[in-house]
Amino acid sequence: MLYPGHGDIEPFRQLAERLAVPLKDSSEAGFDPHEPFFLSWRDGCLKLLDKELLKKGGLAVEIEPRNGEQRSWPAPKDGALAQALGRKTKTVVDATTGWGQDSLHIFRMGYELLCMERSPVMAELLADGFNRLAGLDWMQNLNLQPPRLLIGNAIDLLATVETPPDCIYLDPMFPPKRKKSALAKKAMMVLRDLLGDDQDKDQLFAAALAAAGKRVVVKSPDYAEPLGGKPNESFQGKLLRYDVYFKN
Ligand SMILES: C[S@@+](CC[C@H](N)C(=O)[O-])C[C@H]1O[C@@H](n2cnc3c(N)ncnc32)[C@H](O)[C@@H]1O
Repeated sequence: MLYPGHGDIEPFRQLAERLAVPLKDSSEAGFDPHEPFFLSWRDGCLKLLDKELLKKGGLAVEIEPRNGEQRSWPAPKDGALAQALGRKTKTVVDATTGWGQDSLHIFRMGYELLCMERSPVMAELLADGFNRLAGLDWMQNLNLQPPRLLIGNAIDLLATVETPPDCIYLDPMFPPKRKKSALAKKAMMVLRDLLGDDQDKDQLFAAALAAAGKRVVVKSPDYAEPLGGKPNESFQGKLLRYDVYFKN
């Protein structure tokens, strides 16, 4: 955890304590810029920094719509993601929230959304992003609450969800096709460096199929084998696929 050396140190102390990580002061003589990762507040956002990002500014949960997404709420339910979630779907659990980009897309399309994330670091970044989201004018004018976030392993958490959600959405980390793909976004590369591949994808898929009301959607790179065997439906996105498994 990196304290910039000015302002209130207390939130930095509390976050370092919650995550059981050391608190470093950038003005300290002992500050080591070669540590693989830091968290710090910059420009009003909690940011994840690595050596390269230390100068450039860091990565935060981006709460603005991505290019091509509508800014209205609820945005139209169109595109491959909405098709995969299903026309009749109302409630969605995103069991692998990560940087929250798919979750926020799902939220902006007006689905009722519950998020899960097992990395405590990603969960802190998400909580900060969802807090910023709650403060936006359009959220307040429409009296909307940000999605709820459960921190823990979705394999366990999904079994505790009382009302089965219509759809459970999975986007676990698959091994890359090549060691360093020039196409992988910096945010996803950092996530892979921080967390590694998700080795328990099969158990997660089984837990999702057991807990879903109607369907499970798996986002996967287009080169990867379908996670749950032959899907009932598949929707093609750019370099990726949404595989859909119906609940019998
Ligand atoms: C590829 S990223 C997801 C990216 C996300 N869809 C987005 O739009 O930013 C995968 C994330 O899922 C989380 N994850 C993987 N398996 C999980 C599990 N069993 N329970 C909870 N979180 C999990 C990882 O910690 C990681 O943050």
